[in-house]
Amino acid sequence: MRKSLPAAMLLTLAAAAPAANSAPVRLCRFAHSATASLDRQVAKAVFEHAGLAYTMVDPRLGGAPGRASAADVTKLLATRCDAFIGVPVARRIDHLRPASTLSIPYLDADFVKFRPVAADAAAHAPDSVAVAYASPAQIIAAQEHDHAFDVLADTRAVLRAVVRGDDASGIAWYPSIVAYEQRHPQAHFRLQPTHSSISQWQLSFLTDRSHAALARRITASVRALRRDGSLPRLSAPWQLRPDADTAPRAQAAFAQDAVYHPGDGGSMLRTAGSAQGAATADFAQQQVDPGRQLFATDCARCHGAQLQGGTAPALRGPGFAPSSGSTMTVGGIYQYMSTNMPADKPGQLQPRQYADIMAYLLHANGYAPSGLALDPAHAGDDQTPFDSFAK
Ligand code: HEC
Repeated sequence: MRKSLPAAMLLTLAAAAPAANSAPVRLCRFAHSATASLDRQVAKAVFEHAGLAYTMVDPRLGGAPGRASAADVTKLLATRCDAFIGVPVARRIDHLRPASTLSIPYLDADFVKFRPVAADAAAHAPDSVAVAYASPAQIIAAQEHDHAFDVLADTRAVLRAVVRGDDASGIAWYPSIVAYEQRHPQAHFRLQPTHSSISQWQLSFLTDRSHAALARRITASVRALRRDGSLPRLSAPWQLRPDADTAPRAQAAFAQDAVYHPGDGGSMLRTAGSAQGAATADFAQQQVDPGRQLFATDCARCHGAQLQGGTAPALRGPGFAPSSGSTMTVGGIYQYMSTNMPADKPGQLQPRQYADIMAYLLHANGYAPSGLALDPAHAGDDQTPFDSFAK
């Protein structure tokens, strides 16, 4: 019936529909996800902020608990769900599929290697790595060249094998380790990052294209809740925690960075908050070095090696932006730069490279990373004023 309406009229209807009178958004979730309790809290906060009514739907998904095929999700989005929450997306994949729309993420959730903190548990274990069958962990173990890995039925079995000492370590999605520790308060694992092409994941909301307006509202609320600190508070238990061994050092040296430092002795060092008073922006510390390198090869010859300016304007400090009340926005600069720069070959870098350069520009202008990677799919939407805190 809707199809018979002229397109222009549909647009008007969509724009005019007042939130309060419209039917509640049917928000589907993966009931068996390790992040189910976080997803519930995030849904509540986000929909409250957006002023939208919603009902949580637990669709039955085919296959094993916790596994959903993309085809299932697509079908549900066309029938019983307006949106999904708790959709894990590999950070290297910008779009799940062309016909769907992802919100900005509300949690970074990586695959990590873990072993029991209690030394005796692992002392006699064979030097093998437990991974779940047909999970990203299996691919990660292969890409990491782990010599012996032990393929088990599911993540639960992986955790059990490591706790029992059947395997010295395991690779799992960090939220499943959090969920395990919540059920077994005496369990405690030492974490190590993994570095494969699919180690880094994020959790987002997903809609299909016909609900793009809803996805935009969700994104706006996620962004607002990140900024006012309520989302970081909710998700704190799910953020990668500082490694047990390095925690004291981590607090001193990394309180400001709130990051994951793959290079630093292989320890996972991420704190939930950031230094008081430091402005944060959405980018991950890992993006800064690649951005710095790209800047050196593609931008520095005009803008100066220290971003101080040359034949082209300065890109840091007061010569670029004031320390408050800037009229430029982060998204505006991103759009300008990714369309017009480098001036001699405009728009010719990859979206991911522009995102890394933007992370470097934010870093160079005194921003601390929020820890959520800057995603090229959304970088242009960010309406935050770009002030510069660099001298
Ligand atoms: C061949 C020289 C050249 C290269 C290479 C170059 N730029 Fe530029 N860029 C310019 C010039 C010239 C302007 C000023 C354009 C104007 O004012 O119309 C500019 C402007 C900008 C601005 C806007 C500055 C402002 O104050 O409004 C940004 C941001 C920027 N460039 C980023 C980059 C980045 C990032 C790279 C590398 C990917 C890059 N540029 C590479 C010449 C260059």
